[in-house]
Amino acid sequence: MKAARFYDRGDIRIEDIPEPVVEPGTVGIAVAWCGICGTDLHEFMEGPIFIPPCGHPHPISGESAPITMGHEFSGVVYAVGAGVDDIEVGQHVVVEPYIVADDVPTGPGDHYHLSKDMNFIGLGGRGGGLSERIAVKRRWVHPISHAIPLDQAALIEPLSVGHHAYTRSGAKAGDVALVGGAGPIGLLLSAILKAKGLTVFITELSAKRKEKARESGVADHILDPSEVDVVAEVMRLTGGKGVDVAFECSSVNPVLDTLVAVTKATGVVVIVSIWSHPATINVHSVVMKELDVRGTIAYCNDHQATIELVEQGKIKLAPFITQRIQLEDLVAQGFDTLIHNNESAVKIIVQPRFQPAE
Ligand SMILES: NC(=O)c1ccc[n+]([C@@H]2O[C@H](COP(=O)([O-])OP(=O)(O)OC[C@H]3O[C@@H](n4cnc5c(N)ncnc54)[C@H](O)[C@@H]3O)[C@@H](O)[C@H]2O)c1
Ligand SMILES: [Zn+2]
Repeated sequence: MKAARFYDRGDIRIEDIPEPVVEPGTVGIAVAWCGICGTDLHEFMEGPIFIPPCGHPHPISGESAPITMGHEFSGVVYAVGAGVDDIEVGQHVVVEPYIVADDVPTGPGDHYHLSKDMNFIGLGGRGGGLSERIAVKRRWVHPISHAIPLDQAALIEPLSVGHHAYTRSGAKAGDVALVGGAGPIGLLLSAILKAKGLTVFITELSAKRKEKARESGVADHILDPSEVDVVAEVMRLTGGKGVDVAFECSSVNPVLDTLVAVTKATGVVVIVSIWSHPATINVHSVVMKELDVRGTIAYCNDHQATIELVEQGKIKLAPFITQRIQLEDLVAQGFDTLIHNNESAVKIIVQPRFQPAE
């Protein structure tokens, strides 16, 4: 079967590799669509980061480069391994792409996403969604209804990142949120916040991303710091009170400064971005307003609730798919768009092979 395999920085190859073996306890999935993530781009441009370099096997998966990529995918079950009796061939599914040690508890309330050596399917080994087929442990396979088109279902993984950030914030219906940065993560997080009944302000510089925020309906107000004083405008819109929660999704320090300035006393600032350098923060404001500054990473028992929001029609994912490509064109079209024309893209999704009409 065809697979996109990461060898090293700047070296991803589309190759023929053996099909996965559907071992006991696993589910064989024919991949329908797989999104390209900013993390994949970082691996290509600056990596290996999450990917274990050649000769340095990951402590849990035991694998090292070359590694099959892709962690944001949907598909159709084509085989079930021995002992799997609650999922059938033909079921539509998405994957919560974790690699965690076998002795880590993964039930409700368990923080398996923070466990030692945690990594992701499609980065740390165990196959990936940028291939025709994959076998995944039953625990990480989430059935979805046929009402969710499989192309949109590929966005459930980054949407779950937004759901986890929302959960971390403690926000509730009726609250006002400011989201800083409307890239894929800020937009999908905003969709979760709207679905949960919040009023959502977005601050964003890019014209194309402001337009996407507008047309997708995920923001009540879009504030461009090159056009307005965002702090003054948020204060005006909230009657001088400030927002209840703020989400940093840009990894840009001025955005963090704005969020801290406009969050109300006792409010919560959630850092969603991955920062590759130390940031500065107005600690005096944090103290004098008794702010909670919180991190959030990936997801943990978020997929089920996220899937339900999509199944209930509370979140429309179609506007966030901006390009569809075939696996052969992953680098020449997919990565090229993200490198040279990032703001035009939200999610580029990849079809690993021609799927016969169902
Ligand atoms: N915590 C997690 O689990 C998790 C998961 C996935 C991604 N991430 C991180 O989330 C971050 C966002 O991801 P993304 O793919 O949406 O990134 P992105 O770079 O596409 O989006 C960032 C957005 O911020 C905007 N921006 C930049 N400067 C600004 C300013 N001064 N004011 C307002 N907006 C500004 C940019 O125009 C851009 O649209 C990244 O750091 C990514 O690594 C975190
Ligand atoms: Zn991702």
